Amino acid sequence: MQYHIYFRISRGGIGIPFELAKAEFQAVFGNFGLEIRRESWARRHMQVDLELAPVDVKSYAAHLGYTEAILLLKSEPYRGEVLSPIERGRWHVGWVRRRGQKVYQTEVYVQDAESLLAHAPDRREFEIVQAGEKRKAFGHHAHRAMSVLDVKFLYNIAKPSSADLILDPFAGYGGIIFEGRLRGLSVIASDVDQSLSPGLSELAPGAYFVSDVRSLPLMPNSIDLIITEPPFRTVHRRAVMDAIPELYRALKPKGRMVFLISSDMCEEVCTSFERLGEKVNFVGVISRGGGLRCPVLEVGPIRIEREEIVFKTPIVSRGMSP
Ligand SMILES: C[S@@+](CC[C@H](N)C(=O)[O-])C[C@H]1O[C@@H](n2cnc3c(N)ncnc32)[C@H](O)[C@@H]1O
Repeated sequence: MQYHIYFRISRGGIGIPFELAKAEFQAVFGNFGLEIRRESWARRHMQVDLELAPVDVKSYAAHLGYTEAILLLKSEPYRGEVLSPIERGRWHVGWVRRRGQKVYQTEVYVQDAESLLAHAPDRREFEIVQAGEKRKAFGHHAHRAMSVLDVKFLYNIAKPSSADLILDPFAGYGGIIFEGRLRGLSVIASDVDQSLSPGLSELAPGAYFVSDVRSLPLMPNSIDLIITEPPFRTVHRRAVMDAIPELYRALKPKGRMVFLISSDMCEEVCTSFERLGEKVNFVGVISRGGGLRCPVLEVGPIRIEREEIVFKTPIVSRGMSP
């Protein structure tokens, strides 16, 4: 079946390039006979074939971050009729003319802007402790929460299986846990900052602990996948570098990690993993406000297909405190 894909437009230099939006789409739909027929970088759309019914396309698409809409295309020869498509912003529905053909376009999926906004860190209330008192805070204002789109992007690149145990050791305002829960995945999380405890324990009851990433209360070889966004500021640089062997220790031999990292730390992080004998895949760069550029790295065996792993052994060896 033919589909037309519209990627989100980058605004004010914030967002991802066409290639990354395409990589995210390929990560989600790559196993369903995906063939790219045509693409327009400038207009950020592409036409593809997929061996998937519209209802299935819609359900998989709900996980995408940087795809705005998917239209189903049905073509017929054009015989000179007057066509009256209905305009829907960047695309039209109904009969349109395309390259000498008459094409009927139907919206299969349109991203739900309201729910994206509702889940954004600057809208999602999060309880913290300040001066011994609990109070409501919002991620954005503290400048340490990821956008919903970026979190979805990381999950899509990571391709977790339902049996994976996922760790975010720099949990912050819980963006990664929040998305994992929406997807029904098992996510455990930690952060060194105790003030985040109320919000994080609410998001991950019984699966959150206060810990410095350099000494995690986890058994060796216990984690399938680490998805995380380490702190960006230079003051944290040493801690991030020192965390690498510890994360590696907690990871299963075939485990993987997906990081969104500060560009300043990228090279040193890559070198540290390569010294440990790990393959680092540079996925691309996400642009943030203020000209900040954030590389995304994938470390470990790149998953094509993995056997389902059922987690049986206890994973926490020292006090996992809510
Ligand atoms: C960029 S934020 C993560 C934001 C998170 N991805 C979100 O969407 O809310 C980085 C977090 O790392 C934590 N952190 C800094 N140094 C740490 C350390 N040594 N061990 C564990 N966590 C640390 C900070 O407290 C901060 O919450």
